[in-house]
Amino acid sequence: MSSEKTNDKEFGEGQPICRLAANFGRRAVLQGMAAAGGIAMAGQAFAQAADDLPADELPPQVGDFITIREDGRPLEVKDLRPGVSPKTAYAVSPDGLIRNGEFMNTLLAIKFNDADLTDEAKTRAVEGVLVYSAICTHAGCEVTGWLREEKTLECPCHGSHFDPKNNGAVLFGPAGRKLPQLGLEIKDGKIIVASVFDSRIGGDETM
Ligand code: FES
Repeated sequence: MSSEKTNDKEFGEGQPICRLAANFGRRAVLQGMAAAGGIAMAGQAFAQAADDLPADELPPQVGDFITIREDGRPLEVKDLRPGVSPKTAYAVSPDGLIRNGEFMNTLLAIKFNDADLTDEAKTRAVEGVLVYSAICTHAGCEVTGWLREEKTLECPCHGSHFDPKNNGAVLFGPAGRKLPQLGLEIKDGKIIVASVFDSRIGGDETM
């Protein structure tokens, strides 16, 4: 199978970046606790921690809209073509604050035809659009590689591959967890966060 790679300007810009999960500390742990519904205590703890964080460092919140990093425009379904490399993105609060104050908040937005998506991926997609954390679950690099023929994502640090058609599942490499996925809906043409990440963001290991 071919492994032709492409690094479009809108995706894969800059150098590979790695931030250790350890540097993220309490924030990552609390995000994980609150992810996917979490337990009541975790929710309370996260709410408390969230009070301490600047709004631009908060992870994507329900009601935020997704914006394209390249030009700052709100992402619309028509901005993405099915099966083409993702766009790097951020969440923006309803009052317009971009949540780009924390590296871990970097997102990948991608689109597929419905028939190409697994049922699990579809539950969080809207009109074929999916949004994932861009942070590799192995050791926290930004995932910037795109394998055009396989239509999969590749981390530049140790080569983990993730399947955006299947809820960000790990296909290859040292990553032990899938890429976290946001739940989405559409309002007034914008892609809106309908549910928080379905799993913990950030890497598990140090480099
Ligand atoms: S940090 Fe991504 S594969 Fe190691």
